[in-house]
Amino acid sequence: MKFISIKEAMRQGSGSVSVRGWVYRERGSNKVKFIVLRDSSDIIQCVISKEDAGEEKFAAVSKVQIEASMTVTGEIKKDERAPSGYEIHVKDFEIVGDSDTFPIQKDQSPEFLLDKRHLWLRSRKMTAILKVRSTVFGAIDEYFRREGFYEYHSPIFQSVQCEGGSTLFDVPYFGKKGVFLAQSWQLYAEPAIFSLEKIYTIAPSFRAEKSKTARHLTEYWHAEMEAAWATFKDIQDQGERLIKHIVKRVLEQDSDSLKILGRDPSDLKPTVERPFPRMTYTEALKILKEKCGMEVEWGKDLRTIEEDKLSKLYDTPIIVTHYPKAVKAFYMKETPGDPKTVHGCDFLAPEGYGEIIGGSEREASLEKLKERLKEMGEKAEQYDFYLDTRRYGSVPHGGFGMGVERVVSWICKLDSIKDAIPFPRTMIRYTP
Ligand code: 4AD
Ligand code: MG
Repeated sequence: MKFISIKEAMRQGSGSVSVRGWVYRERGSNKVKFIVLRDSSDIIQCVISKEDAGEEKFAAVSKVQIEASMTVTGEIKKDERAPSGYEIHVKDFEIVGDSDTFPIQKDQSPEFLLDKRHLWLRSRKMTAILKVRSTVFGAIDEYFRREGFYEYHSPIFQSVQCEGGSTLFDVPYFGKKGVFLAQSWQLYAEPAIFSLEKIYTIAPSFRAEKSKTARHLTEYWHAEMEAAWATFKDIQDQGERLIKHIVKRVLEQDSDSLKILGRDPSDLKPTVERPFPRMTYTEALKILKEKCGMEVEWGKDLRTIEEDKLSKLYDTPIIVTHYPKAVKAFYMKETPGDPKTVHGCDFLAPEGYGEIIGGSEREASLEKLKERLKEMGEKAEQYDFYLDTRRYGSVPHGGFGMGVERVVSWICKLDSIKDAIPFPRTMIRYTP
């Protein structure tokens, strides 16, 4: 017997089919049982009559509970009344794994669903999100490889910080101190551009965010790139093309999933079709004042509320550049002729989904880097391996990091970033 997916069976549309999956819904009488079966591809109603099944098998299937696993063989037919428009008149079936009473019933509060995450992964919602997530990962790889980037890996145990001490996870390391979980691959990626020139990765990053917002995880997947010879503009262009490519692939492959999630695919079209507006931080403050009535003092970082108001003015991501040096990481290049700002950029997603990319051209001056490390209270010796990149044939270069769950969250129109990853980790959530 050859099993096909439920989607393939519906495409076949008539004749005999064999499918397998899990009981999604069940109801019935003492003569006929209706089972909606689901697999990774779709759902389909299966009708089992006592007459066809025989006394004994019908008694068994009458007791079947949701989430039991089954195989089914029968005649498929179009039926407008069935949940997915098709129905299988079952000739034979097998109950492969009985199910106890499934714990997810009436209580669907977010915390309960997180406690039962290992089971909630089976929901149509999570299935749809996980499909989009898979497409996004595939599209990132495809984009960078097509652009001639090599995949490269940094260590996760690191001895320096990249994005500031306040979000650094200390790890006990055989009784030693000064070992941290990666916030970014960057400081270990810059040395490799002298070998491979153009590199990328998709890897977990860790942030000790004492934050309970809908956009912070303590463990997230970070897509990063670094390129020798890249200008500040090149970095922004790469980020824009990457996001366009990801969204294009999702629209091609996952329209059905987007609809299940309540995301109208046409909301995402402008991102593929139109250039992303680019503005400096100083211009952004002006727009915030004029269009949103929000006054931000020059030099202060944009807060979530300001990012949200600003990004809601546009239907594509926007790129904000030239932030004040004081609010950005030590490695960002000082703007030539304007030492108060840096060649750093944030991509803000529309609809208030926040920063999806952070990037910059890197500071080339050894002296400036040392000075800024000192200002941060860091020991330059610790960073000596990194500073060597500026001692032996330094070249202009830069890169960015994209929070994959932030992108998935926006594309899928999720209420919380926690649903963009199978088992989310936050300040208060680290089980199951
Ligand atoms: O802006 P960030 O901190 O930049 C860096 O780490 C650079 N070293 C990247 C680079 O240039 N190679 O982080 C990059 C992105 C953010 O724009 C955001 O999308 C995501 O990582 N991010 C988070 N995503 C989920 N949860 C968190 N706590 C995140 N913190 C950052
Ligand atoms: Mg950032």
